[in-house]
Amino acid sequence: MHDGGLLQLRGMDRGAVVELLARAREFARQVGRESGARPIGADSGGESNGSESGARPIGSESRSTQRIGSESRSTPMVATMFFEDSTRTRLSFEIAARRLGVEALDIGPSSSTSKGETLVDSAKTIEAMGVDALIVRAGPSGAAHLIARHVSVPVINAGDGKHEHPTQGLLDCLTLCRALGRDDFDLSGVRVAIVGDVVSSRVARSAVAGFGALGAEVVCVGPVHLAPRSLEGLGCSVSHDLDGVIGDVDAVMMLRVQRERHGGTEVRRHEGGEWGAAGSVGAYRAGFALTAERAGRMKAGAVVMHPGPMNRGVEIDSEVADGARSLVTRQVAAGVVVRMAVIERALGGASG
Ligand code: CP
Repeated sequence: MHDGGLLQLRGMDRGAVVELLARAREFARQVGRESGARPIGADSGGESNGSESGARPIGSESRSTQRIGSESRSTPMVATMFFEDSTRTRLSFEIAARRLGVEALDIGPSSSTSKGETLVDSAKTIEAMGVDALIVRAGPSGAAHLIARHVSVPVINAGDGKHEHPTQGLLDCLTLCRALGRDDFDLSGVRVAIVGDVVSSRVARSAVAGFGALGAEVVCVGPVHLAPRSLEGLGCSVSHDLDGVIGDVDAVMMLRVQRERHGGTEVRRHEGGEWGAAGSVGAYRAGFALTAERAGRMKAGAVVMHPGPMNRGVEIDSEVADGARSLVTRQVAAGVVVRMAVIERALGGASG
């Protein structure tokens, strides 16, 4: 297993998390300075090429040139293997790769897995073609770990089942630190509520690990079947009372109810109603949605996060999602620079 990959945040120490966040912040500053968003890895013909941030074109300095037939190849390649739908993660990995001067090749559900090829065989096949890193999103929890055990290139987990979504966790950390002015990436004394379908959420697991590594206190909030006490094993507390928590936290991260991960049991009992039956969304909203009224009871300066995709009018009201507290679009923007840092590290760049 290559140690340049990123499979999960759980178990990562503060130093490793901060190193990636600091590098992402450097990229953010650099991208912000670039009016034309010039690719960091592009040949600059002697111009500054990220020198202020220490960025190097991956493949021109940090890697040895590879011989392919009679031609040399110095442009590294990553393969994005997405076997679940994605807007933010897939595209931001592709943009991140481009900004680094890395080629991103997309292999999705239309690959030979539709003919019965296993994920591992697909990954080994792509590796054999000379790809330098694999970025994997797949339905089974542990899929990225499984692939990483069978290939020698770095594997980056872009979300595996209910397990983890580590680059999402990092972008959430970067966004929250910047919003709260924690330039040292120290979230000591900060309380974060993660609200909704926590049990189904890989985002929540990575967020608990990431925020926890930076010193924040996390409380997971939801109805009993979506936020069971067993989540405490992740290193957070659990509450079933959003109204009791909402005025006491510095950040609220709302989660979508992932009915597709409920094992085919569309109908879930929740106190006065059934999810999927008439009135059930109303029952859920009554207890656990971030309505405009609830958001109005948040502390001054407290912020609202959502990893997306959002179900407006279910877990979050549009006034809140688009309101002054919302960091949603900042989270998306942070995704690009975080993924730049993660790809760079995987390919043996500045952070490696
Ligand atoms: N947050 C997130 O993973 O979104 P996508 O499914 O659109 O990638």
